[in-house]
Amino acid sequence: MSEEIEAAKKHFENILKEQLERVNRLKKSDQWVDFSQLNPLIIGIIRGDGIGPEITKHAQKILEFLLQEHISKGRVQLRIIEGLTIENRAKAMKSIPDYVLEDIKKCHVLLKGPTTTPRKGDKWPNIESANVFMRRELDLFANVRPVKVPEKCIDWIFFRENTEGAYVLGSRGINVTEDLSVDFKIITTQGAERILRLAFEYAKNNDINKVTVVTKANVIKTTDGKFLAIAEKISKDFPEVEWDDWYVDIITAKLIDPARQDQFRVFVAPNLYGDIITDEAAQIQGGVGTAGSANIGKKYAMFEAIHGTAPRMVEEGRTKYADPSSLINAASLLLSHIGFNELSQKLNMALDICANYERKLKISGREDGVTGEQFTNYLIDTLKDSNLLEKWNKQCH
Ligand code: IPM
Ligand code: MG
Repeated sequence: MSEEIEAAKKHFENILKEQLERVNRLKKSDQWVDFSQLNPLIIGIIRGDGIGPEITKHAQKILEFLLQEHISKGRVQLRIIEGLTIENRAKAMKSIPDYVLEDIKKCHVLLKGPTTTPRKGDKWPNIESANVFMRRELDLFANVRPVKVPEKCIDWIFFRENTEGAYVLGSRGINVTEDLSVDFKIITTQGAERILRLAFEYAKNNDINKVTVVTKANVIKTTDGKFLAIAEKISKDFPEVEWDDWYVDIITAKLIDPARQDQFRVFVAPNLYGDIITDEAAQIQGGVGTAGSANIGKKYAMFEAIHGTAPRMVEEGRTKYADPSSLINAASLLLSHIGFNELSQKLNMALDICANYERKLKISGREDGVTGEQFTNYLIDTLKDSNLLEKWNKQCH
């Protein structure tokens, strides 16, 4: 027994040392990259697994279309990053093989298709998720996920902490004995401050008078308690922004309560709660296939769909019917992050028209709908329309 406890203590000691070093790094806060100074600005494209290569191809086509002038002048480069497949990751026994990580770090921002996340009992070794590893390795601390349902007056944006919580050590838990398993959850002052500040700043800069903080601080008293206490502190720097706090269970209910839905605007939450409520929110918007996700750090940023690789679609031969809107939404978030706000807005309007209003072609994920390629061509035709703004104003208001 004491041997097992000693081994667990050693494991815990190592984790604590690493995390305290991490806190020290966080204290030396870096400057945000200025994308306008980069020439060329390199956008890496990672195809991923399952339906990933298919939907990435379509999102890439949209980026090529919108950025054609900048690409031809050499100011922007699209670069395919090869090798982030589950087969290669299993072979290297790494979440991201070293050579792929090197290529990734040579890009400024990334558009990423979904990647397989193995779990115990799969045919793959149970390695850590490539997403979770990448978010930690590139310090992409803010997972920003917008969700809009105009007819219900829903206009939400989620700021999910992306580098701590139940995730940061999710793959480092221990089986102390055959019968006792322990995972770790971590919240640091610096980690909580930076995500909370970003959410409050977003509200302030966009004249939004409401931030909702989601925790389970009544039960998970230490870590969630800290997150909430820091929210209270940060909120004092933003007296013009009202804020409230909800527990994750009741907010999950309130997100589908018509009497409440339009009152929420900006949410901020630790990692796991953010993961759960953003899938729910995406479903309210029309399905996880519709939502894009930005993973933002001060240096790097990665944009992806919020869903996974859809192995069932692949098995059932429905890959070509997969909805690329999620990743195209992510491409729009990417464009606005690197300073092409106008292009991003144009793309949002075209998506609104094609997916929500005009809906000349309907994508359902099945044979009764159009293929991702047909939908993408429809989007491009809509983008080419010189009356796009008028069309959007007429249909979407
Ligand atoms: C997400 C996904 C990932 C997560 C998975 C694929 C590891 O669900 O981006 O929300 O849990 O963060
Ligand atoms: Mg998720």
